[in-house]
Amino acid sequence: MNSGTHKPLAGKTALVTGGSRGIGRAIATLFGAQGAAVGVHCHKSVSAAEEVVATIEASGGRARVLQGDVGDENDVERFVSELTDAFGPVDILVNNAGINHFVPIFETTEADLDRLVRVNTTGAFLCARAVASTMRDRRYGRIINVSSDCGKRGGKVSGVHFSASKAALQGLTRGLTRQLSPFGITVNDVAPATILTERLDATLSEEQRAARTSAIPIGRMGRPEDVAAAVGFLASDQAGFITGASIDVSGGARIA
Ligand SMILES: NC(=O)c1ccc[n+]([C@@H]2O[C@H](COP(=O)([O-])OP(=O)(O)OC[C@H]3O[C@@H](n4cnc5c(N)ncnc54)[C@H](OP(=O)(O)O)[C@@H]3O)[C@@H](O)[C@H]2O)c1
Repeated sequence: MNSGTHKPLAGKTALVTGGSRGIGRAIATLFGAQGAAVGVHCHKSVSAAEEVVATIEASGGRARVLQGDVGDENDVERFVSELTDAFGPVDILVNNAGINHFVPIFETTEADLDRLVRVNTTGAFLCARAVASTMRDRRYGRIINVSSDCGKRGGKVSGVHFSASKAALQGLTRGLTRQLSPFGITVNDVAPATILTERLDATLSEEQRAARTSAIPIGRMGRPEDVAAAVGFLASDQAGFITGASIDVSGGARIA
């Protein structure tokens, strides 16, 4: 245990959806290192989530695995209750769980659209609603939605249904801001572009890697830790006057 290290999130309970892999894992690990008790949520990768929990616990932190489909209301109510029973009411919610689908409009079905909206948008709505009343009653909360650059400018390779689901998530952020900020709850989103997770790393060819990198003014793809740093700031006390914002974590891709 790093007893001499400042733990800015000590005493806080955080829920990170999709915390088993990629960006979510980096966020969960950061929160754990900062002293929060972390719900490391996954859909199916329970063993990956267990590894994240083990990493946090090995550094003296507290965490537990939560499992369920964010698009299923009963699952969401259940895993939020499990976290609350274990560590107390949720102070920080990060809606990070998400899925993408790389197909052109000509091959995109209505079922594809429904599937992405169900996870990327409805999932965030259900999780926010599950914690909002308690945050309101306690006059404190941080809700951070992991959206996407695609929600702002469309995606070249991501499907239009992905862009639509993330634009809707950005709209959800703004709507929640108006309704929840009067109760001391800040609501923001971070909008990443091309973050090199292990999933992306495994799928990109050398040509695709070079093309993606050349489209980013800062000259490299993002790292999960780049997104975690922005989320960590929005979760901190220093960000108490920031609500309704969208932070691009894109290496400048948004203006390229
Ligand atoms: N990587 C990028 O370049 C990039 C760019 C822009 C935005 N984003 C957004 O950032 C977030 C994280 O992306 P990532 O690249 O780190 O993703 P990832 O590595 O594919 O991980 C996705 C996470 O979401 C969970 N998940 C998927 N479907 C779910 C469902 N129905 N219910 C509950 N959890 C579910 C997965 O759980 P399991 O492990 O159990 O499957 C996993 O933990 C996503 O919202 C994504 O859209 C990523």
